[in-house]
Amino acid sequence: QPIPVITIDGPTASGKGTVAHRVALQLRFHYLDSGALYRLTALSALRHKVSLTDEHALSKLAEKLQCRFEGDQIWLSQENVTAAIRAEEVGNTASRIAVLPMLRHALVGLQHSFRTAPGLVADGRDMGTVIFPSASLKVFLTASVEARAGRRYKQLIDKGIPANMDDLLKDLRERDARDSSRAVAPLKPAEGAHILDTSELTADQAVDQVLKWYAAVR
Ligand code: C5P
Repeated sequence: QPIPVITIDGPTASGKGTVAHRVALQLRFHYLDSGALYRLTALSALRHKVSLTDEHALSKLAEKLQCRFEGDQIWLSQENVTAAIRAEEVGNTASRIAVLPMLRHALVGLQHSFRTAPGLVADGRDMGTVIFPSASLKVFLTASVEARAGRRYKQLIDKGIPANMDDLLKDLRERDARDSSRAVAPLKPAEGAHILDTSELTADQAVDQVLKWYAAVR
């Protein structure tokens, strides 16, 4: 019996991180935030001043990534980088280097290693299409760009960080375009994926829907 995997893919700020994390807690499954791996590679590249066009050097960094996930804390070598990898610059850099095929390839083994008993919930852009094509359940989470910008706005304001709605909308549209149009592993629903539009849903409602779908296939 293969170890079950639930994949949750979708665009930036669609709520997939929150939903995937809560589904994993409910099922007592492991959780993979694959975006964090791209962010860790990006942070490492910025720190080591590796050129963002040097595919070979960037792939080496990804291959040798010394990272650790402990609960909701993320470590790079000896440093706690939980907050650092969420910086806008790191996210933008991650989305730029994520177009490089060699780099994506270098992160495949690490992603597969998260699939351990009793099961895994993996969130990202290509979890269902590329990394875990045999997943038991595939979900594609979307929300309107306005709903996503609104959520991001609230998150920033709640943290005391100034935010501007027009800038957020522009930023999300740019990142959507980049993630959807790249040649390798573009953002798109996997074959057989359940599409869930969360524009009008709370996180709890989205979690319940995913758990219902999983109950039907397990
Ligand atoms: O999801 P998150 O915003 O943390 O991801 C950062 C960037 O990493 C995304 O904009 C995307 O370009 C890239 N990414 C990816 N494939 C994944 C996860 C993230 O290309 N599976």
